[in-house]
Order: sequence, then structure tokens, then C-alpha cells
Amino acid sequence: MRLTVVEESYNKIRTWYDAYVLEFSSEDSEIQINIDLLKEHASRVIENVNELALSINIDESNLFLLQTAALLHDIGRFDQLVKHGTYADNEYSNHIQIGLNVIEEHDVLMGLEEEERLLVIDCVKMHDLSELPKISDEQSLILIDLLRDADRIDVLRIVSDYYTHKKVHPNRHLDMELKDMPAIAKKVSSAIMAEKVVRREDVETVNDLKLSQMSWIFDMKHKRSFKIVSEKSYIKAIFETLPKSDVVIDMYRNMKIFMENQL
Ligand SMILES: [Fe+2]
Ligand SMILES: [Fe+2]
Repeated sequence: MRLTVVEESYNKIRTWYDAYVLEFSSEDSEIQINIDLLKEHASRVIENVNELALSINIDESNLFLLQTAALLHDIGRFDQLVKHGTYADNEYSNHIQIGLNVIEEHDVLMGLEEEERLLVIDCVKMHDLSELPKISDEQSLILIDLLRDADRIDVLRIVSDYYTHKKVHPNRHLDMELKDMPAIAKKVSSAIMAEKVVRREDVETVNDLKLSQMSWIFDMKHKRSFKIVSEKSYIKAIFETLPKSDVVIDMYRNMKIFMENQL
């Protein structure tokens, strides 16, 4: 039965993942903290996809494919962190491309059929795009949207906690090589006031980054996602770490109202 095969494949990939990640263990505490963070992120994203999937109709073998995609979506981050010393994607180091190479080199999806493999690959490929291209296959779109919401919910958890406790527990990698200065780019505030996700290329400072992460709410697809983000106060927590200028207060108010309307 297909379900058993897909479930077995998922379990085998988990075993492979644990062994793969173990190879990155480091005595450098800065690296090890980030390895642990990435591992915990993957587990949390799996939990999130499971939770979000409860609210919609998704068959069980697709759920295992989605869990597979959730486990692997940031697999490229380990190599990126250790080899390139950064999480900032650029033309030389992009966590999606590195991840796709790792999946191919290790033949991670070998237990799956071609169509299933493509579904997982599409999820990994598209989990982090600022804007999704038109996706005609309805099943793929459902899975991709679930993974994107699940991923963003957990990144909001990580960064809201990080920004709040940054002085005590600095982690320069989470600042994405950006300057920590008060300026906020005009394009960032324009996007947020228009209820749009901030484009990556418009992010210039750490404050822009914080606002761009908050702006993900404009692209969240599931009611349950808004509930989680709202209950956990992630947006509010990040706002608390921003300078309270008029423009920031206006942006926050706009996002708060938008969120309330989705609940
Ligand atoms: Fe990612
Ligand atoms: Fe992620």
C-alpha cells in the first residue's frame, strides 16, 4: 500500500537526517548553538504542518510527503552555516540550492515515486520565495502553502525570542549580516501599509529585517496560522524591540488590525 511505503520512506529519511546532522557537530559553541537551532526548527516545522493539516482535508500519504518536505526544507542551512559562515542567501550561497544538491547527492528521496519526489522538491524549492509563481496543481499548492505557513510561524517564534533576548544571547547569524541601525527603508513601510510582504531586496537594516518577518502575516493562508501567531504574540514581541517612531507605530497598528480581521 502506498501509505506504508511513504511512511517507511519518511522514517528512513529521518534516520538519514539524524546521521547527516551529526556530522556537523562542532566544538565551536557558536556553530553548535546554530546546529541545534536548525534541528529544533525542522522538528517544530513538522509539528506545525501536522497541526495546520488538521484543519484541512489532506490524505495521509500526502501528510507524510509534507512531513518529509518539512524535515528537509532547510537541510542546506547546515552546509551553508559551516562552509560559508552565514544564513544570508546570495549568489554564492543559497540554502535552497545547497539543500537541493544535498538531497540529490545523497539520493535522499530514493524510496519515493517520481511524482512524490517532485512534490517534496517543489515544497523545498518554494518554501522561501517572497512570491509564489502560478502553481496549477492543486495538491502541490496546498502542501506548499502549508509548509510556508508552518515555516514562517516557527521563524517568528525563533526571531521574536532572539530579538527580545539579543543582548544576553547574541547570535550574529540571525542578523543576516545586516547593519543594526535605526533607519527603516521607505519601501519597507510602503509595503506594510499596503498589506504586502516586504521584498527581500528592500531589506537594508536589522529593523527592516524584523519588519519584513512581521509582514509574512500578509501572505499566511490558514486561519490556524493567524491563531497561533496571535496567541503567541510573536508580532507584538518583535514590535517591542523596534524604535517607537510614528511610522513604526502606524505599521504595527496596520498589521494588528489585519491579524484581528483574520481570526
Ligand atoms: Fe528556509
Ligand atoms: Fe525554515
